[in-house]
Parts: sequence; C-alpha cells; structure tokens
Amino acid sequence: MLFENEISKVGYLSRSVPDGINLKEAILKMKKEKNAVILAHYYVSEDIQSIADFVGDSLALAQASKKQSSNIIVFCGVHFMAETAKILNPTAKVLLPDLNAGCSLADSAPEQAFIDFKKQYPDAVVVSYINCSSEIKALSDYICTSSNAVDVVNAIPKEKQIIFAPDKNLGMYVQKVTGRELILWEGACVVHVNISNDKLNALMLAHPDAVLIAHPECLPSILDKAAFIGSTKALLNFVQTSPNNKFIVATEAGILYQMKQVAPNKLIIPAPALESNSCACSECPYMKMNTLEKLYNALYYELPEINVNEKTQAGALKALNNMLSI
Ligand code: 13P
Ligand code: SF4
Repeated sequence: MLFENEISKVGYLSRSVPDGINLKEAILKMKKEKNAVILAHYYVSEDIQSIADFVGDSLALAQASKKQSSNIIVFCGVHFMAETAKILNPTAKVLLPDLNAGCSLADSAPEQAFIDFKKQYPDAVVVSYINCSSEIKALSDYICTSSNAVDVVNAIPKEKQIIFAPDKNLGMYVQKVTGRELILWEGACVVHVNISNDKLNALMLAHPDAVLIAHPECLPSILDKAAFIGSTKALLNFVQTSPNNKFIVATEAGILYQMKQVAPNKLIIPAPALESNSCACSECPYMKMNTLEKLYNALYYELPEINVNEKTQAGALKALNNMLSI
C-alpha cells in the first residue's frame, strides 16, 4: 500500500541509476560522505544484507535504531520498521527505499477499527506486536516483538485482561506458553501462513533427520510439529548452536543467508510455500521491494523520508519504551 501523505515524493523512484556504476561501492561511498547508516532486516535480499551496517530481527533493529548517532538511517525493511526507527530516534532522517513496502499484518489493523475494538474491552491492557502502524502503537500500552512477546505478557498482572494485536497466530502461541487468555485481533502474516502443511509433511518424511524450527507467526498446524519456535534471531542462534546438522526452517527465506554464514557446513532447507515460486519457499513481497537501485536512490535524493506526527510519536514512544524497559 502506498502511504498517501508521502505519495508526492515518489516520482524520483522511476529514475534509473547511472550506467555502469558499481552499486555496492557507490552506496558505501555515499553512506560515508553523508554520515548515514544502513539498517536491514534478515528478510531483505542478500545483496543488501551484505552491505548493511547492522542486520537484525525486529527487536534488535528497534534497539539499534535508538542508539544510532548518524544523520541518516536508511531502513531496508518495511514501513512500520522505518516508522519505529523514527519514533525511537526522532532527530535522525529516516529513509525507506520503497514506500510501497508495507506489511499484511500492519494493514490488517486500521486505526478506526482498532479504536472500536478497544471500546468493547475498556479495562484491557493493549499489547501490540511491533508489526503495526504508528497509530496502533499509540493506542497500545505495550509493544512486543516475536523475541519478547511472552515476557511482555508475563509482565502484566495476572488479573488484567489483555488485548493482543494484530497477529492472531503469535497471540495463540503466546496464549499457549503463558497460559493467559488473550483477546485476539484477527490479523496474519501472508508470508508465514503461506507455508504449506502438506508439502512440509512430505519434506519431513523425505528428511527424517532434519529438525523443524519455526517462527511463531506460522499457523498452529506448523508450530505443533516444530522442535523449536522463536523469532528470526532465535532461529538463527538455534541453527548456529544446535548439535544437529540438518534443519527445515519455517519462516521467510531471507534468513537462510545468515544461517549459511554462521553454519556453512549444515544443511538448511526452507519450508515449502503453498504456491510455488522460483525458490519454492515463502518470501515477503514487501521486504523484497528493497533493491540496491532503490537504496542508492534513497541515499542520493534523501527520499522517501519517513515522518510521524508529534502526538502519535509521543504515544507510540511510550508503548515502545514500556517494551524496551522489560
Ligand atoms: P522478527 O523480526 O521479530 O522475527 O519478526 C519477523 C517479521 O515478520 C518481521 O516482519
Ligand atoms: Fe509483514 Fe509478514 Fe512481511 Fe513481516 S514477513 S513484513 S509480518 S508480511
């Protein structure tokens, strides 16, 4: 989805980069000249991950955004992540290489619908997954990521009702681990629910010695058979430290690049997607909108810039800080 208040700035996106240029070298040179830093999520392309200053999962990226002292943060991820970086580091100029890089989870929770939903449970504490817009963050008491959702829910007094939004699958997983009943918003990640249960069963039969590990945004049918469930970073650590040599990884396939770096001698197989594509795996179409060309243009033109209005910024910051202090 295109963010309307920023639509006027995107004309430059059609500009091509100069002929014959070595994009990686040019980006690194310009980054230095402009005192910029490149932050990237594990789901963006290998090309971008290989030149980023910091690559991480949502929690690590939020923490990294907060402590940057550079003039410019180029956020190679999706819109809600760039917004989060701006909220946590308001003096930095935050750039997102493609404004169309949205998120199905964030889109599943429009502001007015969420206000109406909250009204039904006036006493509930609101915990929102970081994969939501800044407006939803501002309507929340706590933000969580897949790394700390269980800890955040456990930190809330037992007698309190909790609304958990927008990812229903993560919510059901947290419910199971904590034993707390949560009021769940009906959102889902198109990438994680796109993993095929039938094809995965067949793959597990073909590789009985492989360990299935999964991200908690996956459907319960996938999580029920996983030997380990965790955030993108936790899955990476698991592959690196596990004595096993063969893994099936049920999450976005971009993380395989880092897994192969830290465990070059292990066999790492992406879980199969319902619909076949070139990698027969599940890829986030929004994360893949980040390209080296767009990153070059973003740095060159210092556009598109992400801004958050003051009132939303203050509310969202409070909820983010409530998470970061846990
Ligand atoms: P984490 O980065 O917390 O693992 O979440 C995955 C994701 O879907 C990010 O959009
Ligand atoms: Fe959103 Fe899913 Fe893509 Fe993450 S992987 S940005 S949750 S659509």
